[in-house]
Amino acid sequence: MAVFMVALGVVLGLCFCTALLRWNEVRYRKKGLPPGTMGWPVFGETTEFLKQGPNFMKNQRARYGSFFKSHILGCPTIVSMDPKLNRYILMNESKGLVPGYPQSMLDILGKCNIAAVHGSNHRYMRGALLALVSPNMIRDCLLPKIDDFMRSHLSNWENKVIDIQEKTKKMALLSSLNQIAGVESISISQEFMREFFKVVLGTLSLPINVPGTNYHRGFQARKNIVNMLRRLVEERRASREIRHDMLGVLMNGEENRWKLSDEEIIDQMITILYSGYETVSTTSMMAVKYLHDHTNVLRELRKEHLAIREGKKPEDPIDWEDFKAMRFTRAVIFETSRLATIVNGVLRKTTQDMKLNGFVIPKGWRIYVYTREINYNPCLYPEPFDFNPWRWMDKSSESQNYFFLFGGGSRQCPGKELGIAEISTFLHYFVTRYRWEEVGAQKLMKFPRVEAPNGLHIRVSSYQTKDLSYAQKNL
Ligand code: HEM
Repeated sequence: MAVFMVALGVVLGLCFCTALLRWNEVRYRKKGLPPGTMGWPVFGETTEFLKQGPNFMKNQRARYGSFFKSHILGCPTIVSMDPKLNRYILMNESKGLVPGYPQSMLDILGKCNIAAVHGSNHRYMRGALLALVSPNMIRDCLLPKIDDFMRSHLSNWENKVIDIQEKTKKMALLSSLNQIAGVESISISQEFMREFFKVVLGTLSLPINVPGTNYHRGFQARKNIVNMLRRLVEERRASREIRHDMLGVLMNGEENRWKLSDEEIIDQMITILYSGYETVSTTSMMAVKYLHDHTNVLRELRKEHLAIREGKKPEDPIDWEDFKAMRFTRAVIFETSRLATIVNGVLRKTTQDMKLNGFVIPKGWRIYVYTREINYNPCLYPEPFDFNPWRWMDKSSESQNYFFLFGGGSRQCPGKELGIAEISTFLHYFVTRYRWEEVGAQKLMKFPRVEAPNGLHIRVSSYQTKDLSYAQKNL
């Protein structure tokens, strides 16, 4: 009898699940939608997506082609894996394809955040941001700050075991803070860092504003960060001093044609800190990993940096000419970003029903412009799973149509050169000062974010550079 009851329960359960799945499919069986499956009500296919990662995408593509529907991360979503179509979507924000980042992210990063604004507001905020990260600004103002910061951040690592993930995370955040407000940021940096890490977790969580949730903590942390930044703005204004940092440019309304309110200035600073944080830190960490595993690449990179050091005294900083001479370093950064796929893709949202690729996409649906697979396309990158920075030495590979490592179109990363300058300076001091080896087995996750869940531990020893010609001979 008991066996019968259990069997009946299982059969009924299966019938119920099948009916639920079917009902959900029927709900979304609108005319003109692309093929694909929608999974469970509410949860959709999020579990499969997060568990199987890139394989989920590849399996769905094998079944339904490069343009299919799904329901992931709480929203009905179209996944586009077609390079040409992805390019079209990125280039055509004005046709109604605006950023589609989760509500938790928009709430916590602020309503003036660049991802939250569209049309003329976006153009204005972006213009104001581009003025902060222009080549002149990097050359005259930011690079000296980055150099100064990296020198100090990378001091006294020898004869220690360090977690390079933790170090690069701190580096990315504190270096940005230093570019924004220079010495004034030092006194708040520790408290700021604690709150900022809560903000990051909050933006990646479900938007449930109940005490104890990451979203709630992130929201509270935003308030604390806003207070700290507001104090910086007020103190700077009271001092009447004009300083050569990002805040100085943002507040110097007379010389700067982009005039922002205090609220906009604060959200702009949060945008810069947030956008450059994970991208710069993870690329730096993965570069260390790949350089460790590919000694021929490390040798070439060291050669480049030792040549730059050779003409300098130990206290001389990296300048703009040095940065421009780091051609192989740039190639290492692109290759790291490609092979590790630091950014899987970008999210857009339709603002009206719209025709795309012969289908009608309803208003409010997300479009996941999934660019990951392009990174492993053998036509674009022969032997795509090899770590081969030399493939980037031809400058034109950076301007090919499907170069999406930094996005594309009107939202293409404005901080690209700044990010490259930061990672290059980090690598400069890292490879000219140190040797390193990994300690123990390292676990790396590549999806949905690249991270080392238990840290990436390395034993660091000093690299003697006192006699550079000797060092160069003995790379
Ligand atoms: C290696 C480092 C970096 C990578 C790989 C990277 C990647 C990207 C990508 C893929 C996008 C496109 C997002 C989209 O289309 O929705 C983007 C946008 C953006 N990035 Fe970066 N980024 C990097 C560094 C930085 C830095 C250092 C900053 C600091 C200023 C920054 C600021 C931004 C901003 C503000 C946007 C949004 C632009 C807009 O909406 O108009 N990024 N980035």
